Amino acid sequence: MQNLSILVINGPNLNLLGTREPDIYGHETLADLESMLKKRADELGVNLECFQSNHEGAIVDKIQEVRGKVGFILLNAGAFTHTSVAIRDALSGVEIPFYEIHISNVHSREEFRHHSYLSAIAKGVIVGFGLQGYICALDSAAQYLRSKNS
Ligand code: DQA
Repeated sequence: MQNLSILVINGPNLNLLGTREPDIYGHETLADLESMLKKRADELGVNLECFQSNHEGAIVDKIQEVRGKVGFILLNAGAFTHTSVAIRDALSGVEIPFYEIHISNVHSREEFRHHSYLSAIAKGVIVGFGLQGYICALDSAAQYLRSKNS
């Protein structure tokens, strides 16, 4: 059976999109982002679930919960990118391929944002393309799942 299900996870403070440092993260809200992604997923013919949490444990729980149910994860772990061994271990544990996404170019920002616990185990990393980065990631994940399942 084809598993064309993709999960988008947004981590801490991404619920504030649109009002949070708009010069860095833009004026569009999380709801705008999620409806843009759902529209694109419909066009691509893939199932899409969107999840956001400010809590590390809730993100770990979600990753564990979708094991065997989801074929790909698109993950913007926010600040947990730079701190969380637990999220990395969960991703390794469930063996679901994922793309790491950042709206801003973390490499042009403070040094503590330059290190990611996730990049080394990610299938790819998209950094600095704004919300468009999620669309690129979704297109690519759908293509990956189709070629894997064909
Ligand atoms: C972010 C970059 C992180 O450093 C930051 O903590 C975020 C958002 C981004 O999308 O650019 O919360 O992941």
